[in-house]
Amino acid sequence: MAYNLTTLFKIQYPIIQAGMVWASGWRLASAVSNAGGLGLIGAGSMYPDVLREHIQQCKAATGKPFGVNVPLMYPGIEEIMNIIVEEKVPIVFTSAGNPKTWTPWLKEKKITVVHVVSSSKFASKAQEAGCDAVVAEGFEAGGHNGREETTTMVLVPAVKEAVTIPVIAAGGIATGRQMLAAMVLGAAGVQVGSRFVCTPEASSHMAFKEAVIKAGEGDTVLSMKKLVPVRLLKNAFFEEIHAAELRGADEEEMKKILGRARAKKGMFEGDLDYGELEIGQVSALIKQIKPAAEVLTEIWNDYQSALQGLQLRKNE
Ligand SMILES: Cc1cc2nc3c(=O)[nH]c(=O)nc-3n(C[C@H](O)[C@H](O)[C@H](O)COP(=O)(O)O)c2cc1C
Repeated sequence: MAYNLTTLFKIQYPIIQAGMVWASGWRLASAVSNAGGLGLIGAGSMYPDVLREHIQQCKAATGKPFGVNVPLMYPGIEEIMNIIVEEKVPIVFTSAGNPKTWTPWLKEKKITVVHVVSSSKFASKAQEAGCDAVVAEGFEAGGHNGREETTTMVLVPAVKEAVTIPVIAAGGIATGRQMLAAMVLGAAGVQVGSRFVCTPEASSHMAFKEAVIKAGEGDTVLSMKKLVPVRLLKNAFFEEIHAAELRGADEEEMKKILGRARAKKGMFEGDLDYGELEIGQVSALIKQIKPAAEVLTEIWNDYQSALQGLQLRKNE
């Protein structure tokens, strides 16, 4: 079993660009893979035929390995999985569901499988199911999240203790220094989401990217715990659903307020007031839109210099 992510995924740097609805299509995934990281296409916002097109475009744009992220909470997963196999995608990251459902089937097809977890209990389940690695995604992360609010700082060592397969840290990582901290906690590499939203290759609306750049500390919140907990930017939609949550609205009412296609409206169509704007706490540190390859190289160089800096301090 490969502990090293560069061996496991056949990549140059142990940095994974997260699968993200309405952000990570073939352009972003291929740019990251071409730059030496692992790019992931986010299948969560794609109809099956759209996903197939993105996979084919990605294959045309890079000869390097890339993967697909499949959130298991959506309907029609079987069709999505069949496309992944037909198109010979080598790596799948599953999330938001039970790792036992698809891991053995994917492993039979010789696909490398990684599952995203927010607790050490689910990390153990992922390992038992046969996953090759787990992503430990902490409370700071953008998008769907665990109910228990365990931070990356606590989750990574807890998951590391619980499993023997490689642990990939996610949530609040946008710089090499943060990556180094995660590696010190026992991670074999990092999954970066929010930082890659602010790249020209991300398919998200420009207004959303600019809102992320402007966001400061305290501008995101983990919301909708009664439905599916998700970290998002505060806006008029958040105020409405949050007020409903506070006055004790039941699931039915919450679902009605959420309505349909709220995430698309916010992140893809750029409705900053009434759309759902999924992003992590680390948005407070993101100051610029820049090409994905530059983001990746910067994280790696910053990681190396932070590591050297620590070694120098050791001799002080
Ligand atoms: C805009 C956005 C969309 C996301 N969509 C998904 C998704 O479809 N599937 C998934 O497993 N995680 C999703 N996530 C979570 C990321 O995969 C990743 O784990 C997380 O962004 C890492 O934390 P960070 O945002 O602090 O980097 C999303 C995150 C963001 C910011």
